[in-house]
Amino acid sequence: MKLRVFDSEQVAAIACAALIAEAVRAHPSVVLGLPTGRTPLNVYRELVALSARGAVDLSRASTFNLDEFFGIPPEDAGSFRAYMERHFFQHVNLARERIHFLDGSAPDAEAECARYDAELAAAGGLDLVLLGIGANGHIAFNEPGDSLLAPCHRVKLGRETRLANAALFGDDPTRVPLEALTLGMAAILQARRVVLLAFGEGKAEAVSAMVKGPVTPRCPASFLQLHRDVEVWVDRAAAGQ
Ligand code: GLP
Repeated sequence: MKLRVFDSEQVAAIACAALIAEAVRAHPSVVLGLPTGRTPLNVYRELVALSARGAVDLSRASTFNLDEFFGIPPEDAGSFRAYMERHFFQHVNLARERIHFLDGSAPDAEAECARYDAELAAAGGLDLVLLGIGANGHIAFNEPGDSLLAPCHRVKLGRETRLANAALFGDDPTRVPLEALTLGMAAILQARRVVLLAFGEGKAEAVSAMVKGPVTPRCPASFLQLHRDVEVWVDRAAAGQ
């Protein structure tokens, strides 16, 4: 794991957008794994700016988002799909047919997860996955527990995770869906390259557990220690521990 400490979140976001743009230039049909949450917002803003200037052409790239709430349709303003449309998809020249997403309104969660894993396999897996990290050490929606699951799966969200996502639902944690669908650990660990971003003091403990702690399902991000090409980009606050 390579740890890189940036002076600020903004500097890291600019560098991260540049890294993604470079990956797209090197391999125009790159397959990107994309997160939601507060952390990548500035990265998407920078990428949109690069795209508007013609500095990155996403027309042949594919994207797979990591996760989605279960029990709400993509059109729900709180869905991750709606977040991605608002902050990224609407503003860049990605081909709609190469945007891949879990459908939180699918009637059969298991079938939906199998479909998503199969689509990802058909695309050749993720070339580059951008990750955030939950304060409890989750990546995508792989929550801490006694064990972790390799394939895409349905998951119950922890209280802390639902609180952290309340902003998408009018700051009302009771409106945050109880469950989600998420790519499993296999898709993430099989990505050819991983860049994880973490900013702010609230992530310091999780970052420390991920980087220095034992590899344990109690901190799903700690499994990234087993991957050969992971960069962890943090600001000073998140590097605090
Ligand atoms: C969310 C997402 C994760 C994200 C994490 C951190 O619940 N499922 O993919 O990385 O929690 O979110 P934030 O960046 O808002 O702290």
